[in-house]
Amino acid sequence: MQSKELEQTLVLIKPDALKNSLTGYVLSQLSEFHSGLRFAGLKVVYVSRMLAEEHYAEHRGKVFYPSLIEYIRGRIHYPDAPHKQRVIAIVYQGPDAVKRVRDLAGPTNPHDARQEKPGCIRSLGTVVPLTDAEGKIIGERMDNLIHASATPEEAEHEIKLWFRTSEIPPFMRAFPVQQNEEVHFYYKDDKLYTQHEPGSTCVLAPGDVMWESDITALGLISEGKQAPCTLQAVVAKYLTNETPERQ
Ligand code: GTP
Ligand code: MG
Repeated sequence: MQSKELEQTLVLIKPDALKNSLTGYVLSQLSEFHSGLRFAGLKVVYVSRMLAEEHYAEHRGKVFYPSLIEYIRGRIHYPDAPHKQRVIAIVYQGPDAVKRVRDLAGPTNPHDARQEKPGCIRSLGTVVPLTDAEGKIIGERMDNLIHASATPEEAEHEIKLWFRTSEIPPFMRAFPVQQNEEVHFYYKDDKLYTQHEPGSTCVLAPGDVMWESDITALGLISEGKQAPCTLQAVVAKYLTNETPERQ
């Protein structure tokens, strides 16, 4: 659990905001002057399918889920420009960070945002109809410019999903970290190995610092036991911005 003073939240500036040159606007709305919050981490991310599916796991199976995955991956707004497919991921820190950012973001649906909270960030978003192969409307996609964690618990899960410990300055980390003394862990094709496999990615080596909960999860997974999160939720950030073929 985070202390209120050092509370953190995850913000994603989504591809529709980037395409419409709203990055500066969003950053200015969330600036310390308006929000009372500080940057604790910030990076440009090519969103792999693995990362997108972990981030939106709660929506798996819903009619809008496939388009939500394509949207966050930038494949809707930049279908022919892989070099533009990215989001900006930011950790904000400060008193009541989660609630303050949610208030500035506004309601999920941009139509509701315009009705209920004119001027909020998402009031500048749009809603797009989704159609099946015959052109029949089967749902809608909400292009709402930013993501913001909904609760402190969700923020913890999402920050650990998107950021490695080394991407947040040591005195700004809100969750326990641990230095690994002895084990190696490698990842390849949905499997975890304790010894190097050709083509695998090393996710943990002796001396590395990692989120404590991730080290615990890897230990349980390597013993074939039930872990509090999936293997993909731990390793996705270690594959971030690798070549797309490896994701
Ligand atoms: P995020 O900050 O993006 O997580 O939005 P949220 O917390 O306000 O909403 P939620 O986590 O429930 O949903 C994540 C995303 O899925 C939203 O930003 C929407 O793009 C989409 N979404 C959620 N609920 C619906 C829905 O009922 N219909 C449609 N079409 N899209 C939805
Ligand atoms: Mg949400």
